[in-house]
Amino acid sequence: MARIVGGIATTHVPSIGKAIAEKKQKDPYWQPFFKGFDYVHYWLARTKPDIAVVFYNDHGLNFFLDKLPTFAVGAANEYRSEDEGWGIPVSRPIAGDAALSWHIINSLVADEFDVTMCQDMLIDHAVTIPMALIWPGPVWPVKIVPIEINTVQHPLPSLSRCLKLGHAVGRAIEAYTPDMRVVVIGTGGLSHQLDGRRAGFINKEFDALCLDKIVAEPETLARISIHDLVQQSGSQGVEFLNWMAMRGAMTGRVSELHRNYHIPISNTAAATVVYGNEPEMRREAA
Ligand code: DHB
Ligand code: FE
Repeated sequence: MARIVGGIATTHVPSIGKAIAEKKQKDPYWQPFFKGFDYVHYWLARTKPDIAVVFYNDHGLNFFLDKLPTFAVGAANEYRSEDEGWGIPVSRPIAGDAALSWHIINSLVADEFDVTMCQDMLIDHAVTIPMALIWPGPVWPVKIVPIEINTVQHPLPSLSRCLKLGHAVGRAIEAYTPDMRVVVIGTGGLSHQLDGRRAGFINKEFDALCLDKIVAEPETLARISIHDLVQQSGSQGVEFLNWMAMRGAMTGRVSELHRNYHIPISNTAAATVVYGNEPEMRREAA
């Protein structure tokens, strides 16, 4: 059976791609951020996942404002990226697992999440930057299932809805019969706003609240409205919706194994976390 071994969440700021290309990981500006991945690499070397289910938001590469699904699931055996105009190297393609994608899509639709299914889907920096940070080597050791959440054009799905989407994805994965070890990933956030009068806005206190509550009390965060989320975390801080879905997919005893918070990377409050997902709880509850 497939098993969810844990969760990882990280910021996806494009300039990280430039720092990687220019090998700036040890520069004073970048070092406090990149050192947050030492534990991620250590944890992955021990847990060895085969599959990464990645909750992310597209920023206009595959979906634009004319057609923007609230939730979309990739169903391809390969995902390509393209130049988004950030001046960063275009990522090499990432292998997908179309069979698992279709299992998840079937299960989600049966669970009343009527997702858009994408047999051809470009992935943007919100997938490629976290992949490069999490697996910095020359070969991706995992296949991915990308799940897009609209954080771009209002109306956005609520925190509560994204937590429930995560629950449904978690149930789907655990009902999948092939043996595989799955890590769930959420990208983006934490607080940031790239445009308008509040450009550069960061809210350390609210970020701390999110990081504290998401582990054991995600339902508390799920009660925050989208309006309040924009106010508290900035218009792009709503990427925290991806983190909520990632958290929702973990159905066991969830614990924080690692947290790195660093202000700022570009305009963003950068955060990297690793959560364990122990299956004992489910057996006790059964
Ligand atoms: C930045 C952050 C993002 O989440 C993004 O998608 C693009 C840019 C930034 O802080 O520069
Ligand atoms: Fe973003």
